[in-house]
Amino acid sequence: MLYPAKSATDETRLREKIQVLEQRIGELEKQKKHFPEVKFLSYKDRKRILITGGAGFVGSHLVDRLMIEGHEVTVADNFFTGRKRNVEHWFGHENFELLNHDVVNPLYIEVDEIFHLASPASPKNYMYNPIKTIKTNTMGTINMLGLAKRVRAKMLMASTSEVYGDPEVHPQTEDYWGHVNPIGPRACYDEGKRVAETICYAYAKQDHVKVRVARIFNTFGPRMHMNDGRVVSNFIIQALQGDPITLYGDGMQTRSFQYVSDLVSGLIALMNSNYSQPVNIGNPDEHTIKDFAVIINQLVGNNSKIEMRPAMQDDPKRRKPDISRAKKYLSWEPKVGMLDGINRTVEYFRNELKRRRHDERNVFLPEI
Ligand SMILES: NC(=O)c1ccc[n+]([C@@H]2O[C@H](COP(=O)([O-])OP(=O)(O)OC[C@H]3O[C@@H](n4cnc5c(N)ncnc54)[C@H](O)[C@@H]3O)[C@@H](O)[C@H]2O)c1
Repeated sequence: MLYPAKSATDETRLREKIQVLEQRIGELEKQKKHFPEVKFLSYKDRKRILITGGAGFVGSHLVDRLMIEGHEVTVADNFFTGRKRNVEHWFGHENFELLNHDVVNPLYIEVDEIFHLASPASPKNYMYNPIKTIKTNTMGTINMLGLAKRVRAKMLMASTSEVYGDPEVHPQTEDYWGHVNPIGPRACYDEGKRVAETICYAYAKQDHVKVRVARIFNTFGPRMHMNDGRVVSNFIIQALQGDPITLYGDGMQTRSFQYVSDLVSGLIALMNSNYSQPVNIGNPDEHTIKDFAVIINQLVGNNSKIEMRPAMQDDPKRRKPDISRAKKYLSWEPKVGMLDGINRTVEYFRNELKRRRHDERNVFLPEI
């Protein structure tokens, strides 16, 4: 309340004080956190969704999409390969919660849906501690299905094209049982995911838990780790730094890469569908690894050398999803072209490489 001034000097002093206060309020307003715009959903349409591994590459993009759709999202992550910065733009939002939780331990919360993504995903990370990878995929999946059973939630498990191993069927259809070396260096992940699928269907059969299984093929995009050794991130970083691009084997092995926003649309479509059998989610646009190296090198424009290295053990020779099932049951197919996706990713890594100080942020805001 402004008291009546007794003299002209009093009035000037008061005005000066008010000016200082107004300035402070202005500064505080500027510091107020602005969130990406979130749709309003009434409480009957709003779902409580748990995303395990939500601070990772794929998980964080899924968080963005579900938050923007207006749902309440809880992330449970042990930050083995995930980072808080992938979801920091949601810190403080009333619909968002981040739990530091390892899925090998049970979790007791109330949710309607679970997207179970927690698991290291790149060979370098899943081979770092193979026993922990097996525990995450088996005990972690049992714990999340236990939660789904208790609270009657629907659960989607992020499986992988690695369940097909080094495939003898091309392109890979969901009814192909795979060709996996059960004692090779990749088995902790490949067999871990295969048994995770088995556990999902055991819970579906025995306890009537509603399960969805997405067999995810290679995916790339912003927020991939800089140094986890995945093909696309490796090539982009090497090309941006003008270093030689390293190819393992003869480079003629093929992969089909999808952009992360397509994967997110596929996962949500699968969760919302009534289809409970496994579904391939990937982009059937198949290229040799050598092609990728050349394309990325050209897009970055630094003219890096391409260097050949010995092949990795059990590296699949061909990979291409048959996505007829996803088209038929989810009306889903990828939309982002490879060059467009690579350009967006190169831009992200270019900014990432420019960082020199902790407070120089490279926040990749949701693509709406
Ligand atoms: N990105 C791909 O190309 C691809 C392909 C096939 C399948 N997938 C599957 O998709 C999921 C996400 O992969 P991504 O590429 O985002 O990998 P990522 O490493 O970026 O994310 C995995 C997340 O899980 C967390 N995590 C690992 N172990 C955990 C544990 N025990 N408890 C809690 N959190 C744990 C990590 O900290 C990380 O945040 C994984 O299940 C992966 O197997 C990914």
